[in-house]
Formats: sequence, structure tokens, C-alpha cells
Amino acid sequence: MAHITPPFSIIVGSMLGATEYVADAIKAKCDELGYAAEVYFQPQLCEIDRNTTWVICTSTHGAGDLPDNIQPFHDDLTNTTLSNTYYVIGLGDSSYDTYCGGAETMHKTMQQCGASALAQPKLIDVLQHPIPEDIAVDWFAEQLA
Ligand SMILES: Cc1cc2nc3c(=O)[nH]c(=O)nc-3n(C[C@H](O)[C@H](O)[C@H](O)COP(=O)(O)O)c2cc1C
Repeated sequence: MAHITPPFSIIVGSMLGATEYVADAIKAKCDELGYAAEVYFQPQLCEIDRNTTWVICTSTHGAGDLPDNIQPFHDDLTNTTLSNTYYVIGLGDSSYDTYCGGAETMHKTMQQCGASALAQPKLIDVLQHPIPEDIAVDWFAEQLA
């Protein structure tokens, strides 16, 4: 069983901004709990410490696709070996057949890289949860408890 290893790197995939609010709220929770955390709104693999626990927060766009800002980061990962731990928090809309496909893609790729999931991805349906950051933070706090 993998263990939580702060500090956290909060990695954001967002087109319209909703997932940025989630990332900000996770960062605020880390601050409150005294955990060091850094948010990457334009993630680049070379800039992110691979010894941190990654909290990947991403929405889904197109037809199950990753947001444009996180796609290059994802593509760089495909040739990378990792040994860190991570969480995935996905925002999506359950009216799409490709519900939270972007989050599922990030989870699959992280596993292929050798990273260890600390939990199954937390998928948040924005149709049911108009304030997704509240759900995300409650879940994240539970993980750390
Ligand atoms: C053009 C478009 C395509 C979308 N495609 C999907 C999809 O394939 N699967 C899904 O679960 N959600 C999809 N969504 C819903 C978004 O993931 C959801 O609105 C999310 O909250 C957007 O977060 P963001 O503002 O961080 O980008 C789509 C939204 C838009 C506007």
C-alpha cells in the first residue's frame, strides 16, 4: 500500500476554469493542514518534482479528451518512468458518453509510468455538483485523515 508523501504538486488540466477552482481549493486545504503544495496551471514535466505526490485535477473536453493545457504534459509522460504517488480528481459531465475520459486517461498513463495511485480517481459530475471544489476538498481531506 502506497503512503502519502507530502509535499504535493497540484497539476491542472482545464479549459474553462472550473478545475482551476478545484486546484485552488485543494491548495488552500493543504495550506490549512500545513502541507507544502504548489499548483501548476500550465504543467510542464521538467518543472515538477517527481518525488512529490501529484494531485492531478483535470476536466474532460472534446469527446473524452484532455484539456489543451495538460495534453503536452500527458504526452511527455508516455516516455517517462515514475515512482511517486498520485491522486486524480476528474471533472466531467455525465451527459457525455465519454464521462471523465480525461481523468481516466491520466490515471492510466500514470499507472503505465509506474506511479502508485493512492486512491481510485475521484470523478465529479458537474451536472450533480455545481460547486465541484466542495466535493473535491471533502474527498481530499478524507484521504489525508
Ligand atoms: C465542448 C465541451 C466538451 C466536453 N466534453 C466532455 C466529455 O467528453 N466528457 C465529460 O465528462 N465532460 C465533458 N465536458 C464537460 C466538462 O468537462 C465540464 O464542463 C468541466 O466542468 C469543465 O471544466 P473546466 O472548466 O476546468 O474545463 C465538455 C464540455 C465542453 C464545453
